[in-house]
Amino acid sequence: MFITFEGIDGSGKSTQARMLADHLRANGRDVVLTREPGGSAGAEEIRRLVLEGDPDRWSAETEILLFTAARRDHLERVIDPALKAGKVVISDRFADSTRMYQGLSRGDLRGTVDRLHDMMIVREPDLTFLIDMEPETGLARAKGRNGTEERFEDFGAGLQARMREGFLALAAEFPARFRVIDGDRSPEMVAAEVAAIADRALA
Ligand code: ADP
Ligand code: TYD
Repeated sequence: MFITFEGIDGSGKSTQARMLADHLRANGRDVVLTREPGGSAGAEEIRRLVLEGDPDRWSAETEILLFTAARRDHLERVIDPALKAGKVVISDRFADSTRMYQGLSRGDLRGTVDRLHDMMIVREPDLTFLIDMEPETGLARAKGRNGTEERFEDFGAGLQARMREGFLALAAEFPARFRVIDGDRSPEMVAAEVAAIADRALA
């Protein structure tokens, strides 16, 4: 079972991915918790290239190649071997993030993202949690972390708003695997809903 968390920056994906991993491990499941961009040694190196520096450091087209290269390494070395071994893989972001951030943010490049995905990645999650919330709340939370990986946050609130709408449209496009979760509640309340859905899917 391959589970992903998606949503705008600061929506609580990392927090929820960790809480779901804890929940499933407590129930005796073998869980690999990972993230994108990154999740393997090579992909973590690419992470620094894409998340630090000026917003206009890379074009959207170059980013599609960098994120897809990172994902391919992550898939070959971490995700596919774990799924083959029968483990549950939980990833904080995956290909839906490229469909949104590179496919929608600077013109319509969704077709290019999908073609490269079909060629190099193919795999889709079995279950995707979209943690949905107001862009202002997400951006305030993300900025509150005060890190160096702020390249996409620095695109501003307009981008966050478009990404939110885009993710909701994506959930409607792939209703079989997407579950939309209201992220504007306590972490425990969100986690309880996520755990109930994951338990049903795994049963
Ligand atoms: P994401 O991975 O989506 O960017 P994080 O899980 O890193 O989000 O959360 C962003 C920030 O918001 C963190 O400082 C985290 O502690 C906080 N946070 C996470 N979930 C909640 C919540 N339900 N309510 C309030 N703050 C939260
Ligand atoms: P992440 O570490 O999940 O940041 P956050 O916790 O703020 O949500 O992801 C960092 C950024 O990378 C995020 O702004 C979205 C961007 N991103 C893409 O643009 N394309 C992708 O394919 C992925 C996986 C992430």
